[in-house]
Amino acid sequence: MGYNVAIDGPAGAGKSTIAKLVAEEKGFIYVDTGAMYRGLAIHFLDRGIQAEETDKVIEACKDADVKIRYEDGVQQVFLNGTNITGRLRDEAVGQMTSKCSVIPEVRAKLLDLQRDLARTQDVIMDGRDIGTCVLPDADVKVYLTASVETRAKRRYDELTAKGEACDLDEIARDIKERDERDMNRETAPLRQAEDAVLVDSSDMTIEEVVKEIAGLCM
Ligand code: DC
Repeated sequence: MGYNVAIDGPAGAGKSTIAKLVAEEKGFIYVDTGAMYRGLAIHFLDRGIQAEETDKVIEACKDADVKIRYEDGVQQVFLNGTNITGRLRDEAVGQMTSKCSVIPEVRAKLLDLQRDLARTQDVIMDGRDIGTCVLPDADVKVYLTASVETRAKRRYDELTAKGEACDLDEIARDIKERDERDMNRETAPLRQAEDAVLVDSSDMTIEEVVKEIAGLCM
């Protein structure tokens, strides 16, 4: 069994930024489970399937093969043999992912892949249900959150830096909508595991959050 660190929290809380830095410091492999769900969502989008067409989504799961490989320590996601890492962060993919990930068959499809990765290696895995469902016996569990305003502003700055036009209010609305869906779905909703440490990063620097989480690890 590897040493397992689970980080859950809402969209835009900084999970991936923090997890990558803790992974570097501690020599863990960073596993981004959101990217796996995003890979499946791309499969559905490419087939012209709408998130509401549950039967079609479930059927399409059967011929979706999502694989994770690491190139220079960076996670790459392959969908049926094609590297789709560059498409994962598109806004349309994010919305589709949040909608499709409520479907139990979609979650079941990725569960074994996630557990297998954690079984043999030291991992820091981020997502929504890692501490509660995927790795209930993780050595360290963190629930990383921040206010909606902080998360929206971070996303706004990120997009603006990339030269993309965006609207702060619209981003905040999208974040609230995504929180609502992720927290209220029936299967594996986003919630803080009882034994998770709560870290609210609203008024913390990246360095402070990394220090706090790395301090919880072996
Ligand atoms: O972390 P992210 O923004 O890449 O996640 C995209 C969506 O995937 C998110 O809205 C909910 C879903 N997700 C999930 O349901 N369970 C996970 N372990 C990770 C992501």
